[in-house]
Amino acid sequence: MSERGSHIGPSILSADFLRLGEQVAEAEAAGADFIHIDVMDGRFVPNISIGLPVVEAVRRITRLPLDVHLMIIEPERYAERFVAAGADRVTVHVEACIHLHRTLHAVAEAGAEAGVTLNPATPLSAIEEAIPLVRQVLVMSVDPGFGGQTFIPSALDKIRRLRGILDMRNPTCLLEVDGGIKASNIARVAAAGADTFVVGSALYAPGQPVAEAMAELRRAVAG
Ligand code: DX5
Ligand code: ZN
Repeated sequence: MSERGSHIGPSILSADFLRLGEQVAEAEAAGADFIHIDVMDGRFVPNISIGLPVVEAVRRITRLPLDVHLMIIEPERYAERFVAAGADRVTVHVEACIHLHRTLHAVAEAGAEAGVTLNPATPLSAIEEAIPLVRQVLVMSVDPGFGGQTFIPSALDKIRRLRGILDMRNPTCLLEVDGGIKASNIARVAAAGADTFVVGSALYAPGQPVAEAMAELRRAVAG
């Protein structure tokens, strides 16, 4: 395990929406550290997922931190409403947000932790000025929009370089990784410097209990 510890949270995008409450409870019982909620608008990403009512509903059934990943254009229009709906952390895409500084401040003012994220082809330099302002930087290891995609290997080097920058400029900042994380690669992602892992399809896998999948991930990251 990395010396920073490892936080693992399910992406409910891969959950069975007909049994969402149960699936969140299963993840919580299995020791999830947070719940990751993917909000997609069909504009910033080519998919539409869920929004404010689902955040409110999940807020009512868990005490785990809600980590809301906004894959929407102009996230400043909605960020505070997601905080009001119960988000503990709101992460916005640098590519989608012209006034990033203002938006991150608005999230913090509204009472949540602010995070920034970047697509696989976006250089780290795009978020450099925002690093002192955030609780979390999320490195996308797939092109956002869908669960179940394959981890992009070049993310490892990006994570390594980001770790170096965070150690200098914001050492308590979480380094989260999202996309294609599974038991077979989580240790490498941790070794590169990540401490917070979003896991969708590998945690809500058909035919495998969530607790078993979580235990396998914990073993892998510790090993
Ligand atoms: C992708 C989402 C991810 C996704 C992760 O756009 O941001 O959170 O659901 O799912 P897996 O782990 O299946 O890649
Ligand atoms: Zn996500």
